[in-house]
Amino acid sequence: VSEQKIRIGVIGCGHWGKNYVRLFSGMPGVELTAIADTEAAKRQAVAAAHGNPRSFASHSELIAAGVCDAVVVATVASTHYAVISEALRAGLDVLAEKPFTLKASEANELADQAEKGGRVLMVAHTFLFNSSVRQIKGYLDAGVVGDVYYAKARRTHLGLVRQDVNAVWDLAPHDVSMFLYLFGEKPCAVQAVGRRLLRNGREDAAFINLVFPSGIIANICVSWADANKERFLDISGSRARVAFDDLNVQEPIRIYHKGITVESPAEPTFGEFKYLLRDGDIVSPKVAVKEPLRQLCEDFLSALATRSVRLSDARFGAQVVEVLEDVQTQFSR
Ligand SMILES: NC(=O)c1ccc[n+]([C@@H]2O[C@H](COP(=O)([O-])OP(=O)(O)OC[C@H]3O[C@@H](n4cnc5c(N)ncnc54)[C@H](O)[C@@H]3O)[C@@H](O)[C@H]2O)c1
Repeated sequence: VSEQKIRIGVIGCGHWGKNYVRLFSGMPGVELTAIADTEAAKRQAVAAAHGNPRSFASHSELIAAGVCDAVVVATVASTHYAVISEALRAGLDVLAEKPFTLKASEANELADQAEKGGRVLMVAHTFLFNSSVRQIKGYLDAGVVGDVYYAKARRTHLGLVRQDVNAVWDLAPHDVSMFLYLFGEKPCAVQAVGRRLLRNGREDAAFINLVFPSGIIANICVSWADANKERFLDISGSRARVAFDDLNVQEPIRIYHKGITVESPAEPTFGEFKYLLRDGDIVSPKVAVKEPLRQLCEDFLSALATRSVRLSDARFGAQVVEVLEDVQTQFSR
């Protein structure tokens, strides 16, 4: 007797949703039973290329058809809350794309809804499933960086300009989720400035500062109006600096075994502090590269089996939204 396959549906088959269709249609133990997209040409092309699953013109039709155990929500950001809520109400497990929702209250409400209904609700913070980011988390936890002083992240390029959200809601979920995961804490203060450059009524570029309870400070620069494409994060500490360049396939991580600390004498008097400079190697460690989205999809399947989300659950997703909401509040002042 063959084991029952998990029936998965993908809602939203645009630029990103197509990747879920590709991955889930080729995974053991899974049957991609349905896809939905409001644009006929998109859903027809995607269905034809992936074994012709049932194809629906809206999320509601797919949900009502009752042919799925779980759905991926990869529609545009402004629709997430309504689509996820409808799927949970229908008793489905959900993997939701970022930004989870556009309001923290809605994110927490969905987390409550999933908990009450015994549903799995996971948020697709892809970078938490990136081998380089996992490896950097290992370095931090093992003390390689020493005391973390501060961190910086840059996510810039020309476009892709979204029609429903600003650059912060589109791009910063990646960096905020990485910092929350890497430092294991939520910021206690958020500052931000942003600019509307492309006459679309939304912030196309922003500089965000985060302060964490441990004292770590972090800066995030996001823009879709920048000729320089960057996907970069680095963390400086007392023992080392670790840099992650997602565009560098050969050497995504570099560890600079260099740092500055201060040695305090037994009985300090003014001017007696000595600065200790460490000057060691710059190392590009080997990273076992695996497609992050595949890793995330596999984690979602484990969550469905164990009924518990290991990483990036709805509460974590809500924390990310809370930070983004704090940023947005500062723009409207
Ligand atoms: N995790 C990542 O690294 C990553 C990368 C890219 C995009 N994303 C996220 O994925 C989501 C989709 O992004 P995209 O680039 O694919 O956008 P997109 O505009 O290319 O695709 C969205 C699709 O959803 C469809 N759609 C909208 N409302 C619908 C509904 N009610 N029912 C069915 N279909 C509906 C649209 O027709 C469109 O084809 C966004 O939330 C985005 O932030 C995440």
